[in-house]
Amino acid sequence: MLDCIVIGAGPGGLVTTKELLEQGISQVMCLEQAENVGGVFANTYDNLVLTSSCTYSMFSDFWIGDGNQQVFWTKNEVVEYWKSYAQHFGVLDKIRFNSKVIAVTPQENEGWKIQLASGETFCSKRVALAVGNNSIPSYPQWKDSLTEVEFSHSKQYRNADNFVGKNVLVVGGGESGSDVALEISRVAKNCWVSLRNSTGWITPRKRGSYAADIATHRGLYGLPKEYGHTFSQLISQVELSKKDPVHETIVQLNDKVKSKNGIWGTYGTKTLSLPKAIVHHGCKVVGEILRVENGGKTLIAAEGETLANVDAVVFCTGYKNYVSFLPYEINEIDPSSCYNHMFHSKYRDKIGLIGWARPGFGSQFPIMEMQARFFALICTGERTLPAYEEMEQIKSMDRAKYLQQFEHNATRIRSLVDYHIYMDDLANLIGCKPPLWKYFFLYPRLWLRMVYGATQGTQFRLRGPGKKEALAQELIAKLPVSSFNHVVKAGLKGRVIYGFKSVIKGLINPVNFAKKLARNLLSADSLSNSI
Ligand SMILES: Cc1cc2nc3c(=O)[nH]c(=O)nc-3n(C[C@H](O)[C@H](O)[C@H](O)COP(=O)(O)OP(=O)(O)OC[C@H]3O[C@@H](n4cnc5c(N)ncnc54)[C@H](O)[C@@H]3O)c2cc1C
Ligand SMILES: NC(=O)c1ccc[n+]([C@@H]2O[C@H](COP(=O)([O-])OP(=O)(O)OC[C@H]3O[C@@H](n4cnc5c(N)ncnc54)[C@H](OP(=O)(O)O)[C@@H]3O)[C@@H](O)[C@H]2O)c1
Repeated sequence: MLDCIVIGAGPGGLVTTKELLEQGISQVMCLEQAENVGGVFANTYDNLVLTSSCTYSMFSDFWIGDGNQQVFWTKNEVVEYWKSYAQHFGVLDKIRFNSKVIAVTPQENEGWKIQLASGETFCSKRVALAVGNNSIPSYPQWKDSLTEVEFSHSKQYRNADNFVGKNVLVVGGGESGSDVALEISRVAKNCWVSLRNSTGWITPRKRGSYAADIATHRGLYGLPKEYGHTFSQLISQVELSKKDPVHETIVQLNDKVKSKNGIWGTYGTKTLSLPKAIVHHGCKVVGEILRVENGGKTLIAAEGETLANVDAVVFCTGYKNYVSFLPYEINEIDPSSCYNHMFHSKYRDKIGLIGWARPGFGSQFPIMEMQARFFALICTGERTLPAYEEMEQIKSMDRAKYLQQFEHNATRIRSLVDYHIYMDDLANLIGCKPPLWKYFFLYPRLWLRMVYGATQGTQFRLRGPGKKEALAQELIAKLPVSSFNHVVKAGLKGRVIYGFKSVIKGLINPVNFAKKLARNLLSADSLSNSI
């Protein structure tokens, strides 16, 4: 019997296999239905450019190459990076390609039976489920009324060739909807984008020569979530002051975000594709589609707009969570009802979900790596899951926390988490959260990079299980600190406001005040937890 079978050789499966090997679990096999690594990125639209920079997208202990810190990889480049990673860490030898899993069945005595489409079976003590949560398309119900027009999902979209000169509706304004709308609006006769709520919070990939996501750091994201509203207004004012139609359009679209925490209460759409489609290519935003007439040739949107002579509809409406080969109790898998979005109460540490936590901002890759590290420690027995009752309690507290922060978005996107909170939660479980106070005094330059540079995976390699201290220090020293831009300034304003509030409260309780001030200044932990 194998110690672990990893299903999927996308980034999640690769990093999990690597972590298992590195923790000494050699009886591991990774099963991949395709004939190569890369997951979603091996099979998506032709012009895909990542929305997370190389700095954020890299795995903690495998360098991206000097000079790439501010670069955004294309899909081919990121797949090449993962191939080199898998080669370097001996992962490729453990992958069986062309191996589609069709059933995973718990065994009475121990472990799982894993059956492939070829008829072969394997037994394993544990399973890591790294099949991705962007694979089963989700559609609005009215799709079924589209009998007279072509329709497709962004999962199938490759390029705009099929839409030249047509009247096309794109449904949804997340990153897929934005990219697809820009490409189609360049060649279509008319391109509309239907938004039910909003586009999520739009930010550019780059600000000047800086990758904008480098400002997704502790210095800013450690502020109380409620500051998100004021913070959003401050950054919108600066966008407007640029007197640029694309930036004005960003503000109009972001104004549709109705969450009480503004930018921190929704998902990020880290591309300017949609504003550019609107300003440069005449793309029009309409409301939710409420009525379908003539088999879809005529569509009526929420604010009364009539879309006439529609030729095609592209649904960019995201994905649902479903894994056909799992036991029926967990096949409609809801990550938000799993312990740390990873472990189901029934099967506990026998099956671990990797890649089922999607951050509002930040990147999914460092998250997968932290999950893989935690899962590997569970497999070696160095970490254990809490007892059932405690696990249930933590799960419901987390769920309530994310519902409070993300409101309706957490209901639709069950994988949604706050990047910093989630990474630190896992780091605490692993035992690798960096002691920022220590670095503040001993290595202030490193501290600056960890607090005011991207909170990517490398800073979690400085201590604890899996530490690679010398390498981590070397890599962190090469990672950029964010520029002192309007976003960082708006964050500093928040630090001053909440620091001041904290002082007032502290005067009432001076001992607590001293402790909390030290913690907030040095560790840039969430102020919301302490004041
Ligand atoms: C278009 C797109 C762009 C994205 N860009 C970014 C970005 O820039 N930054 C970011 O942080 N996140 C991004 N994401 C989100 C997320 O990082 C990706 O979805 C990522 O691919 C998830 O990795 P994964 O390994 O969990 O899943 P996947 O990449 O989906 O890999 C899963 C693997 O499992 C295999 N598999 C599935 N079922 C079976 C089976 N039954 N048997 C055997 N193998 C199976 C699949 O073939 C696949 O290779 C993007 C998502 C999409 C859809
Ligand atoms: N370039 C890139 O790197 C890139 C490109 C594409 C995707 N991605 C990533 O891939 C993942 C999936 O992105 P995605 O854009 O495909 O999905 P998504 O982010 O989940 O966005 C789906 C969009 O569809 C809307 N929607 C959902 N159901 C709807 C319905 N029934 N009717 C009308 N509108 C509906 C949502 O609006 P509401 O707000 O109203 O729910 C949202 O605007 C994300 O992690 C994203 O970051 C990255």
